[in-house]
Amino acid sequence: MGYLINRVVVIGSGTMGGGIAAHVANAGLPVYLLDIAPTELSPQEEKRGLTLEHPAVRNRIVSASLDRLKKSKPLSFFTPQTADLVTIGNLSDNFSWVAEGDWIVEAIVENLQAKRELVARIEQVRNPSSIVSSNTSGLPIGAIAATASVPPKVYATPRLPMPDKVAQPESVVKTLFNSLNEKQKEAATNTSWR
Ligand SMILES: NC(=O)c1ccc[n+]([C@@H]2O[C@H](COP(=O)([O-])OP(=O)(O)OC[C@H]3O[C@@H](n4cnc5c(N)ncnc54)[C@H](O)[C@@H]3O)[C@@H](O)[C@H]2O)c1
Repeated sequence: MGYLINRVVVIGSGTMGGGIAAHVANAGLPVYLLDIAPTELSPQEEKRGLTLEHPAVRNRIVSASLDRLKKSKPLSFFTPQTADLVTIGNLSDNFSWVAEGDWIVEAIVENLQAKRELVARIEQVRNPSSIVSSNTSGLPIGAIAATASVPPKVYATPRLPMPDKVAQPESVVKTLFNSLNEKQKEAATNTSWR
């Protein structure tokens, strides 16, 4: 059995989401990395006369995350060019990109209500055959998916090997699938989580 992943969408560009996006790019897959648009201007933005509508402001959070990943030590990206596989956007202007994802990774703050609202929103646009995973540390997957209008396939994102220890980047997605237990593998193709 196999599941072809051509495009990944990572939502939440913090420690985990940023790392996952880099990992996916290292495996050679294009990634959309999304985060919230700020609701307040920073002092520097005010000084520059920018408004909340300016694209640089709207993508400020996710843009800072990508810059951090590009400069990280140990390296997040295997090569500088790998970072080009990551396209950044914000959840207000670019949410329609979620429809293009074969795998949608939720990696936002550990807050049940925020995750529920996001999953319900994802349900409105995602491709029905897509996989939705949550990177939650401890919230029940069923609770995160409970308020979605259509029960999604939501999985806990399995632990991935550290980027600097991965000998074969192309094996990351295979590693991801293989690290699922039998029940999760079956669910990945057949059924939905409740
Ligand atoms: N940091 C770890 O070591 C670790 C390990 C395992 C699992 N996790 C889990 O991974 C998830 C992310 O953790 P993290 O450490 O990357 O957090 P983080 O604080 O570094 O990043 C969270 C990101 O979510 C964004 N965000 C906040 N509210 C949002 C909302 N309502 N909608 C969309 N995006 C929002 C923030 O802007 C931020 O970029 C959490 O569920 C956490 O429990 C973290």
